[in-house]
Amino acid sequence: MNVHNKPNAPVLDSYWMPFTANRQFKAAPRLLAAAEGMYYTSSDGRQVLDGTAGLWCVNAGHGRRQIASAVERQLTQMDFAPSFQMGHPIAFDFAERLAEIAPGPDGAKLDRVFYTGSGSESVDTALKIAIAYQRAIGQGTRTRLVGRERGYHGVGFGGISVGGIVNNRRVFPQLAGSDHLRHTHDLARNAYVKGQPEHGAELADDLERLVALHGAETIAACIVEPVAGSTGVLIPPKGYLEKLRAICDKHGILLIFDEVITGFGRLGAAFATDYFGVTPDLVTTAKGLTNGAIPMGAVFSSRKVHDALMHGPENAIELFHGYTYSGHPAACAAGIATLDIYRDEGLFTRGAELQDDWHAAMHSLKGLPHIIDIRTIGLIAGIELAARDGAPGARAYDVFVDCFEKGLLIRVTGDIIAFSPPLIAEKTHFEDIVSILGDALKRAA
Ligand SMILES: Cc1ncc(COP(=O)(O)O)c(C=O)c1O
Repeated sequence: MNVHNKPNAPVLDSYWMPFTANRQFKAAPRLLAAAEGMYYTSSDGRQVLDGTAGLWCVNAGHGRRQIASAVERQLTQMDFAPSFQMGHPIAFDFAERLAEIAPGPDGAKLDRVFYTGSGSESVDTALKIAIAYQRAIGQGTRTRLVGRERGYHGVGFGGISVGGIVNNRRVFPQLAGSDHLRHTHDLARNAYVKGQPEHGAELADDLERLVALHGAETIAACIVEPVAGSTGVLIPPKGYLEKLRAICDKHGILLIFDEVITGFGRLGAAFATDYFGVTPDLVTTAKGLTNGAIPMGAVFSSRKVHDALMHGPENAIELFHGYTYSGHPAACAAGIATLDIYRDEGLFTRGAELQDDWHAAMHSLKGLPHIIDIRTIGLIAGIELAARDGAPGARAYDVFVDCFEKGLLIRVTGDIIAFSPPLIAEKTHFEDIVSILGDALKRAA
């Protein structure tokens, strides 16, 4: 089968697409062919405004020549080098640059960096580091991992075990002993909020409940997204993250923030850790790390965790973990060029500058058909729709297709629309988003 039965169009049969209704998609494909700045160009030549920074990753906008040139230079100089018992300068250089902007306050930055190839690998890496740390400090009974309902931590077996999305879990076995906090989403008390909602800090006490149930001496780590993205933009209630931190400290549990979407400027600070002023022990990242240009992830570790593992004979490998592509030279080159752009264009704080216009634009949609909540933080918005009777997700999917046809890329999860535009956006882009989405909502049955 070939798209639109046109000559030279791609044949669609062989590619088994991820997180996609393959047969539905291939019957009516949506193909993107080029990208520049705030826009994609579809395969039929239309401009499509990127309301989602690709998949929460293209924070500096598309088509950045500086990144492309850096990658080309690196590939020409040295395409690949092994990272096991070998090193190459650019991997160290990039880690030093990352250490400078690492999450956490000055003097207590999480400035030890472990490279991965994706967000899922970052999550599984952080979970393994947490368990290894506990063992290294004589707490080897701590192997249990705690996540949260409606959390998304990628698709590795570790990530789905602590994740809280039923469709990602029901078919697959999970790590024994993993358990979950309740999610914090509460429309009855917190609808239509700009920034952090007032109600729900007490939900962090669920961790105390799990300690009482399982025993603190069995729990290695608790992982949460500071702002949950994939399950529809769930913003932490005021005081919630602080409480989680305190309970983890009280019981010797490591706290992991999954910043795969919130890292690199999304909230108007370099990391959500900095934005909320709550410092975890480990931070997982990917996506914005390289502006999405080359796949890469990184785990930022506190010195406490890192240094606890730097013991034993000096010829012993401290952590039996790593990937062929950990610290890939081309990815490091992309990452350094990306950090240069973030710095030179002030993109880590641009979300804070744009925030008022963004929030005003998104909340102006209130009152349009089907909307039951609008929530915003930094340069993120979640717009929740009432589900169609007996067909959850169908209404938002129709809006998604309609918007794409009219020139706007949005992201839907169930009946929630999520926005996370590139940080180079201007106010006029917000107006276009409101206009195209508003019309689509009026058309949606
Ligand atoms: C919070 C979070 N963690 C982990 C992941 C997984 O990242 P990847 O798809 O790169 O494996 C995602 C992806 O969206 C995410 O949003």
